[in-house]
Amino acid sequence: MKSKIILLGPPGAGKGTQAEILGNKLGFTRLSTGDMLREAVRNGTELGKKAKTYMDAGGLVPNDIIIGMMKEKIENLEGAFLLDGYPRTVEQADALGTIVDIDLAVNIDVDDDVLIDRLTKRRSCPKCNAVYHLTNKPPKKDGICDACGAELYQRDDDKEETIKNRLKVYRENTFPLIDYYSKKGKLFTVKGNEGTIDDIFARIEKALKD
Ligand code: AP5
Repeated sequence: MKSKIILLGPPGAGKGTQAEILGNKLGFTRLSTGDMLREAVRNGTELGKKAKTYMDAGGLVPNDIIIGMMKEKIENLEGAFLLDGYPRTVEQADALGTIVDIDLAVNIDVDDDVLIDRLTKRRSCPKCNAVYHLTNKPPKKDGICDACGAELYQRDDDKEETIKNRLKVYRENTFPLIDYYSKKGKLFTVKGNEGTIDDIFARIEKALKD
């Protein structure tokens, strides 16, 4: 099975949702740059203070900060792993390529109108990073994480204006990575708004085993 993978796709495509299932069902270690940065912001670290302005505006945190943050973490990974939210620019992809040769880039493709609905109705767990949706995947108890019991919250960047900027930033900076990994023969695209969350996982699992 392919064991070194990255998840690509626009904001709200379902990267975090599928990363959680890949971790739970197939034992992938997950590294999510978004989760790491949000934790740094919550803890008020130097990294968090620098990252917050960019994140709140829906922009990208500068490459030098992110590449430095990820290098050591990736070098220390063992076994099957997935990267969620990294790389996000060609410069980050080039930097990743100097550390590890990934097996597959899984591109989750979703139409823009669906993305806006998903993000405005998303609720996230600040403690274990589980992801919910008010109608598509509600928690069993209103406002409470099924997995760890923490109170769910709405991310600061899940406001409609910020979402529009995140989509623009995605198209300009991250979309070129689809071609980048396709040329290397490592791209698998899954339509992320056709079928249930479990259906999409099944298609990804099959691609990992092909
Ligand atoms: P990050 O946290 O990575 O955000 P993102 O890429 O914008 O992606 P999201 O987390 O918003 O969406 P997702 O695809 O994970 O969707 P989810 O599974 O939650 O980054 C945040 C910020 O950090 C960036 O804007 C940037 O500033 C900074 N940053 C991070 N990495 C960086 C990097 N490498 N370089 C520079 N800056 C960086 O699903 C969304 C919703 O849809 C949920 O409610 C879910 O329940 C629902 N859903 C999911 N799948 C389905 C389905 N199949 N059917 C129905 N509903 C579904």
